[in-house]
Formats: sequence, C-alpha cells, structure tokens
Amino acid sequence: MATQEEDLRGKLALVTGANSGVGKETALQLCQRGCTVVMCCRSMNKADAARNDIMKRLDLKDFMRLRLVQLDLSDLDNVGQFNTRLDAELGKDLKDAPLDIAIMVRCETARPKRSSKLTTTTTAP
Ligand SMILES: NC(=O)c1ccc[n+]([C@@H]2O[C@H](COP(=O)([O-])OP(=O)(O)OC[C@H]3O[C@@H](n4cnc5c(N)ncnc54)[C@H](OP(=O)(O)O)[C@@H]3O)[C@@H](O)[C@H]2O)c1
Repeated sequence: MATQEEDLRGKLALVTGANSGVGKETALQLCQRGCTVVMCCRSMNKADAARNDIMKRLDLKDFMRLRLVQLDLSDLDNVGQFNTRLDAELGKDLKDAPLDIAIMVRCETARPKRSSKLTTTTTAP
C-alpha cells in the first residue's frame, strides 16, 4: 500500500467495492496521492454519491480523476462485460494505459450464478 508521502501522480488504479467502507477510503487515499482511480461499484447511483463525497473531502475539481464503472462481482455475465464498460469510461486518453494498482474489495463474492439452462442427466444402468 502507498505510504503517506508516496507520489502516485500519473498512475492508474482500480478499486472494487469503492462506494463505501474500505473500498471508498482506499479510492480516496489513492486519489489524494495523485492516481486516477477507477471506482468499480454495483450501483452507479451510490458510485456517483461516493465520488461527489471524495471530491468534496479532497477539494478536488477534476472529476476525470475518479472514473466510475459499473461492476457486480456476484454476476459472471456482468463481470464478463466489464472490459467493454471500462474501455468506454477510460476513453481514448487512458484506454491503452497500463493498470498500475488493482485493489479488489469484496472479490470473494465473485461466484457464478447457477444457470437455469443447466440440466442434469441420469443414465440408467
Ligand atoms: N471495515 C473494516 O473495518 C474491515 C476490517 C477488516 C477487514 N474488512 C474486510 O474488508 C472488506 C470490505 O469491508 P467493508 O467494511 O468496506 O464493507 P463491505 O460491506 O464488506 O463492502 C462494501 C462494498 O462492497 C460492495 N459490494 C458488495 N457486494 C458486491 C458485489 N456483488 N459486487 C460489487 N460490489 C459489491 C458494496 O457495494 P453496495 O453498496 O452496492 O452493497 C460496497 O461498496 C470485507 O471483506 C471485510 O471483511 C473490513
């Protein structure tokens, strides 16, 4: 983790579960040190509120330093489409930028939903 003095200007960071608790504080700390932070959140309304709060606390004017991407870690279809949403949010300026830091909060919830298409087959002896 970054120290208080560490200068992370120009770095790109990604944080999941970033709208509250540990994830939100991590996003704030990374942003304070100069990172552009991708806040990955299940609810975009909550993400927007969290970004506004972080910007207020840091007296930050440039909302491009905190990018919002929707991500529900409990839904594998949603996770599978994440890259497309990430590219759209990063735009031309950051689309090809290397990801320097990734903080996965709540990654333990990334379990596949059972598909209704799955069937079981039994074979008679
Ligand atoms: N807080 C502490 O003092 C502390 C101490 C030690 C360890 N930890 C660990 O750190 C982790 C985070 O704790 P926390 O206190 O920050 O609160 P948390 O309730 O575990 O995590 C909150 C964040 O995770 C998001 N989240 C939940 N399910 C999600 C999903 N399916 N997809 C995407 N995001 C999802 C929540 O979004 P929504 O708002 O949409 O639900 C919220 O942003 C936990 O594993 C906890 O055990 C916490």
